[in-house]
Amino acid sequence: ALLTLAVTVAAYLIGSLSFAVIVSRVMGLHDPRSYGSGNPGATNVLRSGNKKAAVLTLVFDLLKGLIPVVLVLQFGEPWNLRGNTAALVGLAAFLGHLWPVFFRFQGGKGVATAAGVLLGLHAGLGLAVLAIWIAVAFATRYSSLAALIASIAAPIVHIVGWGPSGATLAITLMSALLVWRHRANIGKLMAGTESKLGQKSSPAA
Ligand code: G3P
Repeated sequence: ALLTLAVTVAAYLIGSLSFAVIVSRVMGLHDPRSYGSGNPGATNVLRSGNKKAAVLTLVFDLLKGLIPVVLVLQFGEPWNLRGNTAALVGLAAFLGHLWPVFFRFQGGKGVATAAGVLLGLHAGLGLAVLAIWIAVAFATRYSSLAALIASIAAPIVHIVGWGPSGATLAITLMSALLVWRHRANIGKLMAGTESKLGQKSSPAA
């Protein structure tokens, strides 16, 4: 139980690394919390016009969800850490991204990190949900709408393909939080004012 707590806290700390802010700082760009949606995430970093920074943000935010889950699944067995612990550490990394201890608990929406968690739990699950995200994003150019539809699909795909299990609970909680974190996006989508992928934003807009 103590080890489970330790790896969960470690995953939360890794999740707390807000790579939108870190990558932007390292590359000498504006803080993503100061322009566009103000969200520290790959979509908003893309609004700076720097695609490399956006891709790096996406990759690192995804890896911080993926790596803790994969480590538990690969090396947890001799330590009695099972599948449910993998889902738990994934959830912890996701919560770290939303409420990062290193950034005054002002984090992002969790799309990339959740994708990493799903890929780590079951590659097929992650790929299926990513395919849904990509399809909606290409069809509509709305990153947020793609995230909302993929979030709703994730627990369903998990139950049908791999569940139900303790992981279903973690995934459902992530999805509920994802939808809630997109509440401003939902308002903008309904008002027709949501920005599309590829639209740049002037700093402090
Ligand atoms: O990655 C989060 C995305 O779904 C929405 O981000 O910046 O458009 O609010 P944003």
